[in-house]
Amino acid sequence: MKITAEQMRFWSPEVRELEPYVPGEQPKIQNLLKLNTNENPYPPSPKVVEAVQKILENSADALRLYPDPDASELKQAIAKQQKVAVENVFVGNGSDEVLAHIFKAFFIQELPLLYPDITYSFYPVYSQFFGVKTKVLPLNDDFEIVVDDYKQPNGGIIITNPNAPTSIDLGLSAIEDILQANPNSVVVIDEAYVDFGAESAVSLVQRYDNLVVCQTTSKSRSLAGLRVGFAIAQPHLIAALEAVKNSFNSYPMDRFAIAAAVASFEDQAYFETQNAKVIASREKLVAQLSELGFKVLPSSANFIFASLPSKDAGELASELRERGIIVRYFNKPRINQFLRITIGTDEQNQRLVDTLKNEILV
Ligand SMILES: Cc1ncc(COP(=O)(O)O)c(C=O)c1O
Repeated sequence: MKITAEQMRFWSPEVRELEPYVPGEQPKIQNLLKLNTNENPYPPSPKVVEAVQKILENSADALRLYPDPDASELKQAIAKQQKVAVENVFVGNGSDEVLAHIFKAFFIQELPLLYPDITYSFYPVYSQFFGVKTKVLPLNDDFEIVVDDYKQPNGGIIITNPNAPTSIDLGLSAIEDILQANPNSVVVIDEAYVDFGAESAVSLVQRYDNLVVCQTTSKSRSLAGLRVGFAIAQPHLIAALEAVKNSFNSYPMDRFAIAAAVASFEDQAYFETQNAKVIASREKLVAQLSELGFKVLPSSANFIFASLPSKDAGELASELRERGIIVRYFNKPRINQFLRITIGTDEQNQRLVDTLKNEILV
């Protein structure tokens, strides 16, 4: 919808200037192979479905009454699984909401927030939204974070690890190096993809009073449709997030989200089996694409970032799309010759490889 300047006079002036985040599309095409938004190709634990059904059995009260504003049952389940105290846990409506509260709680400072030029594209959006000053630091030519760049005066640091969309793991010792160099600013590690092969910085939380680790149930727990994210940090940082949350929405976690996520955190065996499957499928797909001539960055995530030197990436994305396969293409400097491809089941990945081999690269 096109809004005219006259209609826009009703908008708050700063809203007129916003450049909102554009999520990956969710098209309704038959026989679609959707490898564009890093969802998990497998369903959540069967125990999740049972937990939701139980709520429906008592739906009158479950729907009539407000949910627990503190989501304490969920915080306890996360604390147990992450081996931290419940005071170390904050939960929100998807890690996007947790990140929004993080920006408000910590990053509105005199000095700029530091983050890489290629990273999760919501960070510039939140920065604009909350009036956060930023300094963008380029990744090196191999798309790696340059640790020494993060040793300059700053008002906070946010790093996705493994990074998105590059899929590269920075490693825990580099993260610790950054934490030690910045004792007076909050360092946030966004671990949306950590369960697919990187080491979590949660193990550092008790030692660093400036660390916030953010995770989600959307990828490794197959719960993107529920919207459950969380942060782990020392209690003085969690208190700031609670203050922001309780100034915005007292009940961000609905009853279904709480019960389903609890069931997911309690089924560790399913979580580990499914993640191992995705990792095995990733390694197989990387080998197959490399054979077709693709250059694939080393991935520790449930997606890969790949380029084909002989073909324009934008064209490749369109040709796949014409055949019902959607991958993510970013028409942005430095990465406009790459495709971000979510790892599907082995069968789905095979369809991608066969389509490339037999229909596009012939
Ligand atoms: C790096 C990163 N952080 C956070 C998110 C948000 O995840 P959610 O809001 O589903 O928890 C995403 C989603 O794609 C992501 O890629």
